[in-house]
Amino acid sequence: MASTATTSSLPAPPPPKIYAARSKAPIRSVIPHKIALALLTPNNVGQLRRLNSVLFPVRFSDGWYKDVLHKDVAAICKLALFNDIPVGNICCRYEREGDSEVKVYIMTLGVLAPYRRLGIASELLRHLLTVAGVGTSVSLRDPNAPAPKAPSASTYSKSSNSNNTNAASKSSKDSKATSAKTEEPKRESRTVKSLYLHVQTSNDEAKAFYESQGFKHTGTVQDYYKVGIEPRSAWVLERIA
Ligand SMILES: CC(C)(COP(=O)(O)OP(=O)(O)OC[C@H]1O[C@@H](n2cnc3c(N)ncnc32)[C@H](O)[C@@H]1OP(=O)(O)O)[C@@H](O)C(=O)NCCC(=O)NCCS
Repeated sequence: MASTATTSSLPAPPPPKIYAARSKAPIRSVIPHKIALALLTPNNVGQLRRLNSVLFPVRFSDGWYKDVLHKDVAAICKLALFNDIPVGNICCRYEREGDSEVKVYIMTLGVLAPYRRLGIASELLRHLLTVAGVGTSVSLRDPNAPAPKAPSASTYSKSSNSNNTNAASKSSKDSKATSAKTEEPKRESRTVKSLYLHVQTSNDEAKAFYESQGFKHTGTVQDYYKVGIEPRSAWVLERIA
């Protein structure tokens, strides 16, 4: 409604027309902006799909989008909002190493071109290093623990229909009730050993970004990407401290 719209003597800045990477964002210190990170949910995962479709040369499967919504990775999979608009994301997974360690693999970290050089990727990475930097202890679902059992209907009906009031029966009823409540999967604690990722060998921008953030080039994998994606090779960048 025009009468309630905020008025300003200055015209609104035009939307960006050039989608090539900027060398240095001239608007960084001029336009007030707010960068925030949001939890991924089934309601906004569609935004993540759209972002990834323009940010990366690979397509991610439906299973991939399901995995990034898992609560174990809630802290390491985030959308980046620029003035409340989703413009970037980071999605990582944990890879177990030996008995007690874990590597953090950065599957995606990207920001739409018009919003680059504003510190958004740095903010996403800063968050990642806070919650899962090298040396951090993370709690994960124990893969060796038996799958949690859903409380069976008979557990409830037996205990609630019983008229037996002796102590043994009461204690068994209590323990069944407790186990029904506490059927949480077993968890294990692991320490982050390193963070790493692959960058396509044509992507000097991303390499420069990661090197500015303490990652080192530790190798090159030929044929990392599928046929049809050129070049197919990828640099491995890793941060061990
Ligand atoms: C790499 C990428 C995530 C960087 O995002 P960003 O939000 O622009 O990064 P930041 O603004 O936080 O940059 C932080 C620093 O990284 C370095 N950097 C970032 N982009 C750079 C570039 N194009 N050239 C040189 N240095 C660069 C600079 O030191 C920069 O600091 P400065 O702007 O003060 O000079 C972004 O270019 C992108 O989304 N690329 C496409 C997706 C991709 O390739 N992701 C990596 C593989 S997972």
